[in-house]
Amino acid sequence: MVFKRIINFFRSKKKEEKAGIKEGIDDIEREKEKEEIEKRPVEEVNKYKEEGIEEAEIITEDKAIRVEGEEEKEIVVGEGAEKKEEEDYTKTHKEEEEIKRVIAITNQKGGVGKSTTAINMSASMANMGKKVILIDVDPQANATSGLGISKYEVNTSIYDAIIEKVDINELIKETKIEGLFIIPSNIHLAGAEVEMTNMMMREQKLRRIIEPVREKYDFIIIDCPPALGILTLNALVAADEILIPIQCEYYALEGLGQLLKTIELVKNNLNKDLRICGFVMTMYDSRLKLSNEVVEEVRRHFGDKVYKTIIPRNVRVSEAPSYGLPVNLYDPDCKGAIAYENFTKEVINYGKKRLGERT
Ligand SMILES: Nc1ncnc2c1ncn2[C@@H]1O[C@H](COP(=O)(O)OP(=O)(O)OP(=O)(O)O)[C@@H](O)[C@H]1O
Ligand SMILES: [Mg+2]
Repeated sequence: MVFKRIINFFRSKKKEEKAGIKEGIDDIEREKEKEEIEKRPVEEVNKYKEEGIEEAEIITEDKAIRVEGEEEKEIVVGEGAEKKEEEDYTKTHKEEEEIKRVIAITNQKGGVGKSTTAINMSASMANMGKKVILIDVDPQANATSGLGISKYEVNTSIYDAIIEKVDINELIKETKIEGLFIIPSNIHLAGAEVEMTNMMMREQKLRRIIEPVREKYDFIIIDCPPALGILTLNALVAADEILIPIQCEYYALEGLGQLLKTIELVKNNLNKDLRICGFVMTMYDSRLKLSNEVVEEVRRHFGDKVYKTIIPRNVRVSEAPSYGLPVNLYDPDCKGAIAYENFTKEVINYGKKRLGERT
């Protein structure tokens, strides 16, 4: 009997031992399995999840759970991070594309290349896929006729918006260039200076008129008359930026002090965000010592505010307006067309720098 009991005792001991060993093996195997799961890619982990294995809730190479404050966030790492970088880049790039700019081309000195620059820069911008309106606020209407629109035939201009309160959308005309629109000038605009004398807030008119279309165009370019009168003042109040063409000629800097003082006054009183986006040297003749001297002088005064691209005196540039064409359509390979294209790229890049300052 006693003997039987002893045997039974040892048998049960053996059973316990066996069970213990089995448990131990199970533990080891579970550990091994967990380790393997941790190394597996997401799809496999999901498979484990489906099978109800809780250890699948782990950090994998592609996915991590991070707790930030009260919130539990899923952070994408590895391949996912690259995707995210790409998304961020597209977003920034889109913002760059979205920066809308109103640029007034001003210099009260006559014949320095304002209208020529307005036409050719606008046309180059449109050629680069931008949506542009050129507003001609000069009663001489050179930008209008330079784009092939007769100032005698058009019966509307920005005058109608200023005096008659006509909606700006009714004044915008198409041009031969895709993406380039114009609000032409006509003879009536000459009377606007006088008629505006007694108007309230007369210097704010253009700014208010363009407000509804400001965000719809990449660029609004304003060609100013050669005077610091009420029309130019309206352009300075409406604009974000001023572009100043300087002719490579005698007395190039004459009157510039007065222009800069006016800009400062407008900035301090009417348009605090106004800035000069640059000076562009026009009608440069490399054979003339004078041309080089003027460029040097202007660079000494205004440093890197002077665009690197200099517009050469080029007969094709002066012929193009009589055909109602910008030079890039009239003769795309001539020196003048190439210069205007390079210069336009610089102006567009200035906008990216502006964006950089803002962010
Ligand atoms: N790069 C150039 N090469 C040759 N001729 C040019 C060039 N730029 C402008 N011109 C010519 O110089 C003259 C004056 O140019 P533009 O009309 O552009 O100046 P502006 O400053 O607009 O004049 P205004 O003050 O009268 O409005 C025009 O006859 C034009 O064709
Ligand atoms: Mg002009």
